Amino acid sequence: MSDTRKEMAVDTSELTRQLEYMHHIRQLNDEYTMKTGNKKKYYSLAMGCQMNAHDSEKLEGMLDEMGYVKTDVETEADFVIYNTCCVRENAEQKVYGKLGWLKHYKKDKPDTVIALCGCMMQQDTVLKTLREKYRHVDIVFGTFNLYKLPELMKTRMESGETVYDIWQEHEEIVEDLPSIRHFPYKASVNIMFGCNNFCSYCIVPYVRGRERSRTPEDILAEVKKLAADGVKEIMLLGQNVNSYGKSLDEPVSFAKLLRLLNEIEGIERIRFMTSHPKDLSDELIEAMKDCHKICKHLHLPVQAGSSEILRRMNRHYTKESYLETVEKVKEAMPEITLSTDIIVGFPGETEEDFQETLDVIRKVGYSTAYTFIYSKRTGTPAATMENQVSEDVIKDRFDRLLNVLNPIIHELNEKMVGKVVMVLAEETSKNNEAVLTGRADNNALVHFEGNKDLIGQLVPVRIIENKTFYLIAERV
Ligand code: SAH
Ligand code: SF4
Ligand code: F3S
Repeated sequence: MSDTRKEMAVDTSELTRQLEYMHHIRQLNDEYTMKTGNKKKYYSLAMGCQMNAHDSEKLEGMLDEMGYVKTDVETEADFVIYNTCCVRENAEQKVYGKLGWLKHYKKDKPDTVIALCGCMMQQDTVLKTLREKYRHVDIVFGTFNLYKLPELMKTRMESGETVYDIWQEHEEIVEDLPSIRHFPYKASVNIMFGCNNFCSYCIVPYVRGRERSRTPEDILAEVKKLAADGVKEIMLLGQNVNSYGKSLDEPVSFAKLLRLLNEIEGIERIRFMTSHPKDLSDELIEAMKDCHKICKHLHLPVQAGSSEILRRMNRHYTKESYLETVEKVKEAMPEITLSTDIIVGFPGETEEDFQETLDVIRKVGYSTAYTFIYSKRTGTPAATMENQVSEDVIKDRFDRLLNVLNPIIHELNEKMVGKVVMVLAEETSKNNEAVLTGRADNNALVHFEGNKDLIGQLVPVRIIENKTFYLIAERV
């Protein structure tokens, strides 16, 4: 078994090295295909946030390059890879559940290779559990060495033993990995990795390491390439995009980066997430207002409404300063919509604290909110705080929160009825082939009747009905 490793500098030849491993495995797979007439299949599952989804696009890009073909049917797979999340406990339970199932699967199909990677693997307790109870897993790696998949696969083939390769931290960023995109016309682009904020409930900084920004040159080059490839909408990803560029040798602000990206021909829409309220600058508001390609939607997670809870969450803003920021944003861009993340039941949350959260929801009027029940994460400061809120109380608050939130969402969407908006047609509806779904500039989810040929195009539609969580429209 290879062992847990600390930081290791990677030079630019790292990509070349991995390309060689990919080539080697590709040859083996080609031989297999010649012999059997079959191609090896992989099943890839990304859990958690868009970062993980985008990382999985890179993993899939590498698997493609190695001659594997993707399958959505897990029971057909020769290679299974789960890119895991550990932000809440239920995400971890899901992985263990699936691993239990895979144990049986592998009994019937012993050549299946099982790989686990992502945030959950960065925790020692998880590695210990895997080593003790889930010995049928073949390859385990983390968030810092994703690009090493080909090398780890080769090591596994040669050693016949489980390969563990987890790094604690990593400075360098390996550029230009092969990647496949799940949609031809929209793409995610990492602008930074890691997080320095250490919100007291959150495990992300521990499993994703310190903040590292990519250079504007690398980002622009990638986006230009995407535009040349037909991509119209980009989603810029970072745990806190508002602190982008601060640690670069030549610091660049996020607002400046947005202005540069706004100039790229072919790109028609720019989205980003996530903005930390403490760092939302006037310069960013100006850039959003000035640049017509930047969508008028802002995901600005509040987490809680009570300033005391926010202080204990280590969020570095108060209810009042958050509401002031929202006002500034709305004043600059009256048409903008805001969305948020909310945690219910943070340790010590009283009924009064909870009422403050409801008050913020009412005052801001979110168009979408991702609501979470607080989940204790071992190793975070909040896990050892006193007065953990009981499950019953949390459940009751959670239900009441939705009862306040949903009518507000409905009311906000009602204002869109009758309006003509541009929708980027993304795919056909799951229930009806004749219906297309897509998003308006302000991120509203819109369904309308239309031909598949429209997928990937910006289509003008008139909103005719409000279904609370989505809108129905007709082409104009
Ligand atoms: N960097 C982003 C979000 C990352 S995690 C930000 O700061 O907004 C996504 C969301 O998961 C968080 O916004 C938070 O609402 C939620 N979350 C994080 N840790 C959690 C925990 N321990 N329990 C419940 N929800 C949590
Ligand atoms: Fe977690 Fe806070 Fe960092 Fe977001 S900003 S990833 S919530 S620590
Ligand atoms: Fe994302 Fe989950 Fe990791 S939310 S950063 S995949 S812990």
